[in-house]
Amino acid sequence: AKITFIEHNNTEHVAEFEAGTTLMQIAVTNAVPGIDGDCGGECACGTCHIIVDEQWFNKTGEIADAEEQMLSMTPERAGTSRLGCQVKVTEAMDGMIVYLPEFQM
Ligand code: FES
Repeated sequence: AKITFIEHNNTEHVAEFEAGTTLMQIAVTNAVPGIDGDCGGECACGTCHIIVDEQWFNKTGEIADAEEQMLSMTPERAGTSRLGCQVKVTEAMDGMIVYLPEFQM
């Protein structure tokens, strides 16, 4: 399956993925710029902030309290913001589009 990451300057990165990994891991594995995953997916750094395309947002699952707390400190938070490390990907996300914020924490 494939996910497209779109940078703030519109550069697209199409990444192949297998279900069970996370958006952060896919971005890091594919060297998508701006997704650092500094805390290794512990929901503790906010460097994996992504903005999900509105059409796909309802496929990304619930936002847990810890994620909500990190997101609330994210300057560029949008209505469909998520922490990439907290979004487990499934085959249902094939074709999903996510945007990268202009600045990353
Ligand atoms: Fe640190 Fe997601 S990788 S919060």
